Amino acid sequence: MRSVIIGSGIGVPPHVITNEALSRLMDTSDEWIRVRSGIQERRYADPGQGSADLGVIAARNAIADAGLTPADIDAVLFATMTPDHVLPGNGPLLQAALGLRDIPTFDIRQQCSGFLYGLELADLVIQSGRYRRVLLVGAEVHSPFMPWHLGWDTLIGLSTREITEAERAANTAIRDRTVLFGDGAGAVVIEARDGETGLGPIRLHTDGTAAGVLTMPGASFKRRPFVSHEQIDAGETVPVMSGKEVFRTAVTLMPQAVREVCGLSGLAVEDLDLLLIHQANLRIIEGVQKALGLPPEKVPHNVERWGNTTAATLPILFHECRQQGLIKPGMNLVFTALGSGLHWGAALYRT
Ligand code: ACO
Repeated sequence: MRSVIIGSGIGVPPHVITNEALSRLMDTSDEWIRVRSGIQERRYADPGQGSADLGVIAARNAIADAGLTPADIDAVLFATMTPDHVLPGNGPLLQAALGLRDIPTFDIRQQCSGFLYGLELADLVIQSGRYRRVLLVGAEVHSPFMPWHLGWDTLIGLSTREITEAERAANTAIRDRTVLFGDGAGAVVIEARDGETGLGPIRLHTDGTAAGVLTMPGASFKRRPFVSHEQIDAGETVPVMSGKEVFRTAVTLMPQAVREVCGLSGLAVEDLDLLLIHQANLRIIEGVQKALGLPPEKVPHNVERWGNTTAATLPILFHECRQQGLIKPGMNLVFTALGSGLHWGAALYRT
């Protein structure tokens, strides 16, 4: 049996946040953000809208796209690093909202590689014969990481007050990270089918020695209490990132992983029809594309419109490529991602 994606869908929130809007909160500019990251705008969720809510929208769309109903799903994999709650995970919330049967739901958290790791797990449980149809969701809300008490409420029309100099300085101190991220969700339905199309080979990697390059020091169960006003005031609930190190590893390790799965399947890299890369940053995407010697038209991107949505980038990109008619029968696609962990890898998919 092969694991075949039979439906996809997205769930994106309403508030469009332009670079220009962010420049009203901090010392940044549309030009800096575009040149360094390619991002032009990102979306923020409504107050009270969580990653489970966005995941539910994406899942409903994916199930309908597959021509199925929620009763047809046998298991759920929910990838997010920004769940509604520390406990329980988003899986049971999605199960209840969709009215799924009494089926198992798994919550996974491999950050930017969450969807890629989910593809591997979906393929393994399908290959084992345990489940026939798996719903895989990647969803994030990064906007709650932002320091909303420092004027961010003005971005979504909740306030029209002036930003103070002190607030502007505090926002500027974290501008290298906050401008990169957006909220969103994507989902796919994966079904066991006979034939030549489907997932595999997939290869995943983890290097825990590099766990510190992208992490969040606050809201940690090594702290007592695990979160406090002091942590928030010190900015410790905003992720910290060694941007240059992430950049260097991304443009080195993703091409290696792509070559690895091509080699395992007897394909040359130039035989690939489409490379779907985690949408962190346009410079990383172009770096991977050039390292592999692929023409730009084989490496689509949408980071311009959504920013980095972590576990949601790959399913949103896959869905938009399908909508644009870029994915046709008989193609060799590769999904690749790298992110906090470090986790990275690649998955071949034959359409
Ligand atoms: N606006 C304006 N200026 C800024 C901003 C901003 N938003 N952020 C940083 N700067 C300034 C810095 O303060 C610095 O100023 P200085 O020279 O006066 O000290 C200057 O710009 C250069 O800063 P660097 O950090 O050296 O900028 P760099 O060229 O490395 O770009 C970036 C930063 C975009 C984060 C880059 O390192 C990068 O692309 N890293 C990849 C990380 C990434 O994309 N992560 C996404 C999440 S991880 C993942 O999904 C894989």
